Amino acid sequence: MDYLQIKGAKNLEGKIAISGAKNAALPIIAMTILAKNRVKIQNTPQVADIKTLIKLLQNLGATAEFKDSTLQIETLNINSTKATYDIVRTMRASILVLGPLLARFGHCEVSLPGGCAIGARPIDLHLSALEKMGAKIEIKDGYVIASANDGLKGANIVFDKITVTGTENIVMAASLANGITKIFNAAKEPEVVQLCEILNQNGVKIEGIGTSELVIYGTNRSLINIDEITVIPDRIEAGTYMCAVAIAGGKVVLENINPDHLVAITSKLSDMGVKFEFGSNFIKVISDGNLKPCNIITTEFPGFPTDMQAQFMALACVADGVSSIDERLFENRFMHASELSRMGADIKLNAHIATITGGKLNGADVMATDLRASSALIIAALRAQGITRIHRIYHLDRGYENLESKLTAIGADIKRLSERVNYES
Ligand code: EPZ
Repeated sequence: MDYLQIKGAKNLEGKIAISGAKNAALPIIAMTILAKNRVKIQNTPQVADIKTLIKLLQNLGATAEFKDSTLQIETLNINSTKATYDIVRTMRASILVLGPLLARFGHCEVSLPGGCAIGARPIDLHLSALEKMGAKIEIKDGYVIASANDGLKGANIVFDKITVTGTENIVMAASLANGITKIFNAAKEPEVVQLCEILNQNGVKIEGIGTSELVIYGTNRSLINIDEITVIPDRIEAGTYMCAVAIAGGKVVLENINPDHLVAITSKLSDMGVKFEFGSNFIKVISDGNLKPCNIITTEFPGFPTDMQAQFMALACVADGVSSIDERLFENRFMHASELSRMGADIKLNAHIATITGGKLNGADVMATDLRASSALIIAALRAQGITRIHRIYHLDRGYENLESKLTAIGADIKRLSERVNYES
């Protein structure tokens, strides 16, 4: 197993090219199940979660070619609709194949994704919506067994909670349904918007894109021809590197970004004392490393994203005062707190609220527990006095492309080593 070794107290200078968004590419890859042509997807990040979903589709009979950041997928010859546990358990977003497979083939078996480090991650809202569209859903031996022999029918769906992949699953299912589907309380994340825009531009009429009310006019099981796609930039990757500069100090330009997707993040960082220069597709981040405390409540887009909560907790650990973080989306998304405490952080947890008193951080051996927690530990290590070693970084490889080379290019002292190597003293 690999670990990352980081020496702290560095000033960061230079530029980073932001990759395509993992959480946009995943539903886009699932959407190729609805296509009758070979789909070309540009700006696809080479990260583990993407490779896992491609492998899942190949196991169903699809063919794929993934070179640099260009992915080409053909699903015409899919000959199985069973997404097995061995793959789904490694990447819960595999549930995104449920809607498209059911809509196209009228039946599928998808392993229940199970929970993960940050919470139970139920899919009840996905399943009840599909039942409203005429699907018969049975849970047996850990699998969702779904059937809709006469195809799915348009329906009115009201989501009790805003769900990103739930909205994406139903948008894709509704795209091939017979009739009109209205989704109320839909997610409005940029990744959901891109999926709707692609479908709307390629034969599936969708109204209300970017709002919480979507109207999808189904094609009644006619597959669609999908033009070349370019995945939107990863706003969470961009936000993560902004936090790295904020805590270490320096001047760094982030290229290939969409500033409109980053407002909640840049606004909060500005409140903490970070300066920005905005361009149409780049942002210059300027910090002297001195940070004011923050008060954060995570919520759905366009509010403060839960996927940036761990990274801001790292900033709060060195801010000049007391910060509070209220995690409203996931019931167990404070796993990074105990690891940050090993570095000397003063964090008090009370249910879904964390109170952080800023101070100094010292290097230590710490363990990654989930994707965003791992990036929080890197951010803390960039400021800590001495050496930090972050173990179990396979979590990191799920969602950050070329992280070490991007940070090294701006002056960070970061190395990927194997656990067999004796630690540098
Ligand atoms: C997506 O997960 C993202 N993943 C997550 O990013 C992100 O944290 C999350 O949205 C919230 O923004 C992908 O897009 C692949 P939800 P998702 O359904 O869709 C509850 C990362 O780090 N809920 O919006 O699984 C759920 O428990 C990952 O890249 C139900 O109760 O999240 C949670 O409390 C982590 N029943 C809330 O809704 C359901 O059927 C929001 O979950 C579905 C969800």
